[in-house]
Amino acid sequence: MLILIDHANIDLIRETLDYLPIDGVTTNPTILANEGGDPLEVLRKIHSVLPEGSQLHVQVVSHDRESMVAEGRALRAEFGKHLHVKIPVTHEGFAAINMLASEGIPVTATGVHSTLQGFMAAQAGARYVAPYVNRMDNFGINGVRVATEIHQILRTHHLHADVLAASFKNSDQVLRLVEAGIGAITAAPSVLAALVANPITDVAIAAQDADFARQVGGEETFSDLIALAHQRDQQSLKVAQPEL
Ligand code: G3P
Repeated sequence: MLILIDHANIDLIRETLDYLPIDGVTTNPTILANEGGDPLEVLRKIHSVLPEGSQLHVQVVSHDRESMVAEGRALRAEFGKHLHVKIPVTHEGFAAINMLASEGIPVTATGVHSTLQGFMAAQAGARYVAPYVNRMDNFGINGVRVATEIHQILRTHHLHADVLAASFKNSDQVLRLVEAGIGAITAAPSVLAALVANPITDVAIAAQDADFARQVGGEETFSDLIALAHQRDQQSLKVAQPEL
């Protein structure tokens, strides 16, 4: 399963890459607009900090199929083989998905709000299908259920496509999809941080640290204790074998 960052802030991306197992970054026009400045320069900066082999998903902003395909090709030429072109599942988008996929360019079908949209996008050749989980929840549609149904249908029909679930607001939505075995999720750094942070962990480790410090009488770690033990061993060897 892949875990991606759904954000364009370079500091937050760096911070998240620094400690979590991350496979890439996804963006959309709103995410890029939130950063201000030239969106291409923002993307270049993100690309420059991503580890080799990481995916970068960028959404086209054209509306007709020919322009979407032209944008997809341009993005691919700019960012290389790990660039995935995000195409919205509109009428023209479906045609563009098919055209780009037939050129071997990986497409992420985005803005998916129903199981059938997801299935049809995979049939059209999308490599990833991105259901907007929380946005569906906000409209009274069970987003986790739709994402899970798409995943199951992709497997039933042996389609070479995976669900890349997006739009999360809490870690329980993520957990339900991890349980279902979906291929990938993308979430904001704050949601990703909530997947691993737990105040009860902090309390438990603080108590263990205090017990250990009391026992050794200070802040020594095992590195210190091992170095001290080696020093003692050397000294006792010298005592046992005095130089002649
Ligand atoms: O990239 C699309 C998706 O992440 C939208 O998320 O948070 O705007 O619902 P959000």
